[in-house]
Amino acid sequence: MATPCSCSEKGPPRSGVQPLPYVVINMAMTADAKVATAGREVTTFGSPHDQRALYALRATADALLCGARTVEETGATLGTGSAEHRAARRRAGLAEDPVRVVVSGSASLSSEAELWKHPGAPIVVLVDGTAPAAQRERLSRLGAEVWVSPGDRLDFTAALAWLAERHGIRRLVAEGGGRVNAALLAADRVDELRLTWVPRIFGGQAAPTLADGPLAGCLAEAVPFRLAQVRSVGAERFLRFVRRNGAITSSPAGSIPPRS
Ligand SMILES: NC(=O)c1ccc[n+]([C@@H]2O[C@H](COP(=O)([O-])OP(=O)(O)OC[C@H]3O[C@@H](n4cnc5c(N)ncnc54)[C@H](OP(=O)(O)O)[C@@H]3O)[C@@H](O)[C@H]2O)c1
Repeated sequence: MATPCSCSEKGPPRSGVQPLPYVVINMAMTADAKVATAGREVTTFGSPHDQRALYALRATADALLCGARTVEETGATLGTGSAEHRAARRRAGLAEDPVRVVVSGSASLSSEAELWKHPGAPIVVLVDGTAPAAQRERLSRLGAEVWVSPGDRLDFTAALAWLAERHGIRRLVAEGGGRVNAALLAADRVDELRLTWVPRIFGGQAAPTLADGPLAGCLAEAVPFRLAQVRSVGAERFLRFVRRNGAITSSPAGSIPPRS
C-alpha cells in the first residue's frame, strides 16, 4: 500500500547561461535489478549486442561519467570505441573523444586505475569540499582536471553547470555505479534511463543495484519515469525511460534534446 506523504518537486530550475547537460544513465541490470554480483566478481554480463549499444550511445555523448569504484573495480577507461565511432562523432560535430568524468567525492580514486593508462580524452574528477588537498593534488599530477564542489557535499547541479560552461558538455552519458546514479537522481538531474534487462538473477542484498541510495520515503517521492521504448534483441530487453515531468529542464530554454 502506498504511504501517503506530501512532497515538493526536487531540483528547481537553475538560472544560468549554458543549459545543463542532458543526462542519460546507461546500465545493464539483471531481472532482479542488480548491476553486479554481491561479491562484485561479475561486473560485465550483457551480450555483445549490449556492448555495441553502449559504444553507440557513447558516440553521441560529449562526456561520459562514472563513479570511482566503478572505474577501479571494472577497469573502465571510458573509451570512445572504434574508428567508426570516431567517424560518427565527427559527422555529428562532436569532439573526437568524449570528456571522461569521474565522481570521487573524497578524491580517493586510485592512482592504479586503468583509466590513467589510457591517455587521450581529458579526465575530470569531481570532488567535494572536504577532499584533502594532498589527494586533489595527487589527482592533478596524474593528469586530471579536478573540480571542487562548493560546500561539503558534492553539488551535482553545480558540477553539471561547470561541465557545460568549461567543456561545452551538452549531453552526458552516466555509466554508474549505483551510488553515483542515486546521487544524480537525488539531485533530479537524470533525463533518461537506458537499461539493458538481462534475464539472469544475481540475488543478494549486498549486490549493487541501479540506484544505491535512499530516494523515496513514500510512493509520491519516487522519481517518475515513463517507458518510452522497448526493444528485444535475443534474450535481452533494451528499455528506454524518460523523465516523466518537465521539472528538470535545465535552462529557461529547456533541456538539450538527445542526439539520437
Ligand atoms: N551493470 C552495469 O551496467 C554497471 C555499470 C557500472 C557499474 N557497475 C557496478 O557497480 C559497482 C560500483 O558501484 P558503487 O555504487 O559501489 O560505486 P560507484 O557509484 O561507481 O562509485 C562510488 C564512489 O563514487 C563517489 N561518489 C558516489 N556518490 C557520491 C556523492 N554523492 N558525493 C561524492 N562522491 C560520490 C565516491 O567516491 P569517494 O569514495 O572517492 O568519495 C564513492 O565511493 C561495481 O560493482 C560495478 O561493477 C555496473
